[in-house]
Amino acid sequence: MKQILWNRKTRYRPYTSWSQHHIDQLRAHVATSPWRTQNHIQPFTGLLNDPCAFNYFNGKWHLFYQQYPYGPVHGLKSWHHLTSSDLVTWQDSQGQLLPGGKYDSHGVYTGSGYVEGSTLHLVYTGNVRDKFWNRHSYQMDAILNTENQVFKTSQPMIASVPVGYTNEFRDPYVFDYKKQRYCLVGSQTQNRKGTILLYKQTSHDFWQFRGHIQLPQVLTGYMVECPNIAFVDGHVVLIYCPQGLSRDVLPYENIYPNIAVIADDIDLVNRKLIGKVSVQQLDDGFEFYAARVTDAPDGRRLLISWIGLPEVNSPTERYGWAHCLSYVRTLHVRDHHLYLLPCKELNKLLSKHQQQNNASTITFNNLCGTAEIALKVQADQQICIKLHASDSTPLKVLIDTSIGKTVISRLNSHGFFEQRTGCFPAQKNIDLRLFIDESVFECFVNDGFLCMSGRFYPSAQPQSVIIEGIKEIPCIDCWNLERSNDIR
Ligand code: FRU
Repeated sequence: MKQILWNRKTRYRPYTSWSQHHIDQLRAHVATSPWRTQNHIQPFTGLLNDPCAFNYFNGKWHLFYQQYPYGPVHGLKSWHHLTSSDLVTWQDSQGQLLPGGKYDSHGVYTGSGYVEGSTLHLVYTGNVRDKFWNRHSYQMDAILNTENQVFKTSQPMIASVPVGYTNEFRDPYVFDYKKQRYCLVGSQTQNRKGTILLYKQTSHDFWQFRGHIQLPQVLTGYMVECPNIAFVDGHVVLIYCPQGLSRDVLPYENIYPNIAVIADDIDLVNRKLIGKVSVQQLDDGFEFYAARVTDAPDGRRLLISWIGLPEVNSPTERYGWAHCLSYVRTLHVRDHHLYLLPCKELNKLLSKHQQQNNASTITFNNLCGTAEIALKVQADQQICIKLHASDSTPLKVLIDTSIGKTVISRLNSHGFFEQRTGCFPAQKNIDLRLFIDESVFECFVNDGFLCMSGRFYPSAQPQSVIIEGIKEIPCIDCWNLERSNDIR
């Protein structure tokens, strides 16, 4: 297909100026791609980034993700709508929240949703660039009705940046607490420090600025993106992306981390966390960013994330698409630590169970691109899980329970290995679940005490997995996962 020179002009062309022919060609190009997933949400064409509104509404799950559909680059962003009855199989609704208005001329940026009567509010940042390319940010409120139609409102819900903060002011997250409605906004002070701003809804269309959430400055870097708050197992969990966080505070290995700050409670009048405060990464793998949380009607707290990172490219771009979302995960807090585990609904995709016992080398074949591998690893064992695709090993997971470490290596697209390391309590038995989906992996130790996720780029479809232990492995289970993607 014809090469497009991606520059400011082409990236910000109005959607209406792209031809159907371009989309058809791009779709045909994407169809030639290896690495398309079978059960992770991926874009039809172009680039997918942050999950946005993720809500149970009108008897269904609704999820919007941010996208640029005309090429695998960060261009003029919109939201794309999916629905689901089970959090695992997603249907495309053709619904979109499109840019181009006075307050979102240069993109519909990240946000969240909340249900009010028979509407789902879609709260987002309208991104506007002036003729000097200076940024102006507005917090906007659109509406999805029960027919899945999107209506934008003409005026912003928060029209200006409060005094003392820069125009890096985005990613509103609306939540209810003690019968009041609040909104968090990711932001930056004039002194270039990251911060989370709090607004309270004081009447139907007025959001009052209350100040910033008081967090230790070392936890906010120079900019905070994508804040969320979740009330989990009697704790308060702030989830956000602090850009420029010092690696002395948290030893993360990616360009930017996505972290959880866990406290006993929060005082929203004084905007303070209460009691013990602990901090961790959500996921120690290669890509995990812009996670979004929501409440399920059955009381669970759920999270979904972008498996991608800002300013990081993907080899899939040469086939006209980029990035995907994680599985939906359930959140728990135990001993002041956040656990994230794939939601139980994922089990319904498991098929073709295989099991092997009592060997130090175990092989499972016929994966056809997908697998869940589940095992218990004894306290003083070392295990290596190698995924095979054609004659190469694109992904390797090493677990050493004697020192409490998992090291995941991937053969990157230029042919050299990259690694990420995660830690868990040493010298104890652990359980491990590793999910594979063509070019995505998600690995969970001890019910999600440690999570490591990311992409890898095999030279052919993954077909077998070899597990080697320095001692005999008592029992390993392996399943295939049925295809659940409507988006090929
Ligand atoms: C995070 C982010 C958000 C912003 C959006 C723009 O990935 O930078 O802060 O709203 O992406 O695409």
